[in-house]
Amino acid sequence: MLILGIESSCDDTAVSVVEDYRNIKSSVVSTQTEHEKYGGVVPEIASRQHCENILSVTQKALAQAGVTLNDLDGIAVTFAPGLIGSLLVGVSFAKGLSLVTGKPLIPVHHIAGHISSLYLSHPDLEPPFMCLVASGGHSTIVEVISHTAFRVVGRTRDDSAGECFDKCARAMGFPYPGGAYIDKAAKDGDPSAFTLPKPKVAGSDFDFSFSGLKTSVINLIHNAQQKNQEINFNDLSASVQKNIAEILAEKTIRSAGYSAYTRVAIAGGVSANTGVREIFERECFHRGFELFMPEKNLCGDNGAMIACQGSYNLTAGITADESLNAVATLSLNEVSKRTDNDIKKKNIFF
Ligand code: KG4
Ligand code: ZN
Repeated sequence: MLILGIESSCDDTAVSVVEDYRNIKSSVVSTQTEHEKYGGVVPEIASRQHCENILSVTQKALAQAGVTLNDLDGIAVTFAPGLIGSLLVGVSFAKGLSLVTGKPLIPVHHIAGHISSLYLSHPDLEPPFMCLVASGGHSTIVEVISHTAFRVVGRTRDDSAGECFDKCARAMGFPYPGGAYIDKAAKDGDPSAFTLPKPKVAGSDFDFSFSGLKTSVINLIHNAQQKNQEINFNDLSASVQKNIAEILAEKTIRSAGYSAYTRVAIAGGVSANTGVREIFERECFHRGFELFMPEKNLCGDNGAMIACQGSYNLTAGITADESLNAVATLSLNEVSKRTDNDIKKKNIFF
């Protein structure tokens, strides 16, 4: 089975061809750098850039895979969630391709796509497992029941982990997106140099809140500037990174134990972070959980994860007609398709 995967939910225009669920034939990612000077993604610029890039990125992906549109078995596209103007470019383009080729149009939820990056990196991994998806837009703990059945166990109440990394990085003067700059600076810093808050979230053990941490880091920098005090940004980066990583690992591993899972996974842009990977490795090892992480080049947004998830969706009969629309906000629970087999496996949750 050959599936084309199209991703345009934020600021990466990405297209890939994946064969037989997990074999990446090509993966082309065009990252928009125009947003750097604004310190964050400007939605209108993002949509216009997708519009300019999407055809050439698709042509490159097909050429690198050595296939034509006629060879495909389906066209998968991220339809939710994300920036609406960005999503609409990918969805409209995919519809056009589906119309001219007669191939099925396959809608993919972005978070399900990130979960699929794990299947591409671990050929033998099969659900069920507990997975954290931490990116610029999401910090969500998902019970992955099957390839198409999901249950959201925890989510952020305010900022995502990626946003927290990016806003702290901005306050330290790093370019956007700053997560990777914090990661680099942290390598030369002392993670115990600053004591930062770990917010409590009322009402749920597995929900996150990162806005308090973000504000305390910004205040700490502003206060020091007002007093003309120097802050060692390597130390602060290492402390922020450790704090975020510990919050993510603690809740994710605890949620896995609570639901009797022994396998934990992480995905999304933040799963590329060195400190996050190290703390998950350490904690999973000590507590007896098996850990799965995507290869670093599959952590961020890419078309391969959409094509992989699209393959599973097509197999499960999840396709769309010409009325498919983009959706800015949509819980993964709403696209979850539970088969009788899933219900038998985990009937406690239904
Ligand atoms: O998954 P992704 O590419 O896009 C979304 O779905 O949002 O994630 C992007 C986020 C950004 O916040 C970026 O700063 C963060 O992932 N990120 C990192 C690292 N690499 C990317 N954060 C911390 N450390 C990294 N090495
Ligand atoms: Zn993403």
